[in-house]
Formats: sequence, structure tokens, C-alpha cells
Amino acid sequence: MPGFRGLDGSSILVTGAASGIGRAIAVRLGEEGAVVGILDLDLAGAEATAEQIRGVGAVALSFEVDISDAAAVESAVAAFAERAGGIQGLVNNAGWDVAKPFLETDAELWRKVVEINLMGPLNVSHAVLGRMAAAGRGRVVSIASDAGRVGSSGESVYAACKGGIVAFSKSVARELARQGITLNVVSPGPTDTPLFRNFDPGGGLAKALERAIPMRRLGQPADYPGIVAFLLSDDAGYITGQVLSVSGGLSMHG
Ligand SMILES: NC(=O)c1ccc[n+]([C@@H]2O[C@H](COP(=O)([O-])OP(=O)(O)OC[C@H]3O[C@@H](n4cnc5c(N)ncnc54)[C@H](O)[C@@H]3O)[C@@H](O)[C@H]2O)c1
Repeated sequence: MPGFRGLDGSSILVTGAASGIGRAIAVRLGEEGAVVGILDLDLAGAEATAEQIRGVGAVALSFEVDISDAAAVESAVAAFAERAGGIQGLVNNAGWDVAKPFLETDAELWRKVVEINLMGPLNVSHAVLGRMAAAGRGRVVSIASDAGRVGSSGESVYAACKGGIVAFSKSVARELARQGITLNVVSPGPTDTPLFRNFDPGGGLAKALERAIPMRRLGQPADYPGIVAFLLSDDAGYITGQVLSVSGGLSMHG
């Protein structure tokens, strides 16, 4: 049964694939026949995802990396590229936040949020894009958030980072279009993962959101792999600099 074109045999790096949305994306890419590299702080979780991928007959390699550490990112990217024979795709998925009104936060928290959600994807993109440009082909999909498109109370600095990822992706999409590289953004709405449950320990926010979302449910990790796999494939070769919300209709953009 053919899947999206060009994924079978390609090598794709996914950050934050030890959990949630990233794990679902990484497993799907394995099902599409890709060689999958995982960069995550949580090596045990990354290995559990890699085992799932090996279970569908694909190759997976995991690396314990903090994406805010540029040197560690570069050495893991180099190791993956060498073992996989290059890198054709990148999914910037790792992210982190704690819920707090802006006036109750301080510069120490802002710096941590920016290091992970903005500097992290810049570090990984910088390490990967040079190799893609040299090869004359590449696909980058970054997982932002509708917090960065429409705002979200309690997530101001995280939202600023996600809005930054949108602007960054559009700008580099223009710079690298002629080198065969596309950059697109998938923007999830509220999704049932450890990150969201940490944000909403009592479950009250989830109930309120379920009433507000036109499809009357939170997102699930399985809602994302299809669009990400498509944007990484040859089928999406003429699509770049775009942002797509996947949110059960909670946010609709013209
Ligand atoms: N869950 C939601 O409601 C929601 C909504 C919008 C956007 N998102 C975005 O989706 C992406 C995935 O989130 P999730 O909900 O699956 O979260 P999750 O907490 O389940 O998974 C995040 C993964 O990122 C890894 N990670 C965190 N910091 C890292 C670092 N510094 N270096 C390397 N790895 C790191 C974690 O170990 C974890 O495996 C994130 O970018 C998040 O911002 C999530």
C-alpha cells in the first residue's frame, strides 16, 4: 500500500519524540519506511519510541540531547547523518512550558522557555539546514502552537516563542526555496499529552475546551502524524512557508 511519496528510505530527525505528539509522528514515519532519528532529553522514552519503530520493521536511532545545547545538538545531528547517510527531513517538535500569568513570571523562567522553545529549534535547524542545502533537498516541519497565532492566557512567553517559530520558518523558507528546501509549520490546538495535563492538573480547562472546540474533543497525538508526514514528503514539494492549525476547528485562519 503506497504512502506519501519519497518517505520510504529517507532519513528524518524528530525532536521530543520520547512522548506525546512527537512519539506519534516518529512511529508513523517509521511506518512510512523512514529511518528515524530521535533527539530528546528523556533517553528511556526515546528508546521506547525507537523500539516501537523497530517493531514495524524500520530503523530508529535515539540520542540523549538537550536541544538548547547547540554543541550537543551538532554532534548528535552529525552522528545521525553519518549513520543514516544524510538527513532529508526534520521535525522540530520538542517543547516545554509551565502555566503562569505573565506578571507572576520572572526573567529566569522566560530564559528557560525561550532556550527550549525558540533557541532549541534554531539550534537543530541550523545544524540540519546546512547539510540539506549542500544536498539540494530538505523538508522541515516545525510544531508551533495556536497559542502563537491567537494568544493563550498563562502561556505568554511560550506563545512568543511559537509566534517566533512561524516568522522564522517563513523567512528561511524564502532564503532556501531555490536550494530545494521547504519549511512549514503545524500549529496544534490543545492536545491530550503530558504537557497539557501538566498545564491542567484538575481537568477543568479540558472540560471547558471540549465545549468550545467545534469537534467537541481535545486533540490526540494521532491527529498530527498524517499532516506532518505529508509535509515531509515529495507530495508537498510546492508548499513552503505555510502554517496549518490542527485544532478541531477551535481556531480558523483565512
Ligand atoms: N499538548 C498540547 O496541548 C500542545 C498544544 C500546542 C502545541 N504543542 C506543541 O507540541 C509539541 C509536542 O508537545 P507534547 O504535547 O507532545 O508534549 P510532551 O511533553 O508529551 O512531549 C515533549 C517532548 O519534548 C521533550 N523535550 C522537552 N524539552 C526538551 C529539550 N530541551 N531537549 C530535548 N527534548 C526536550 C520531552 O522530553 C518530551 O519527550 C511541543 O512543541 C508543544 O509545544 C502541544
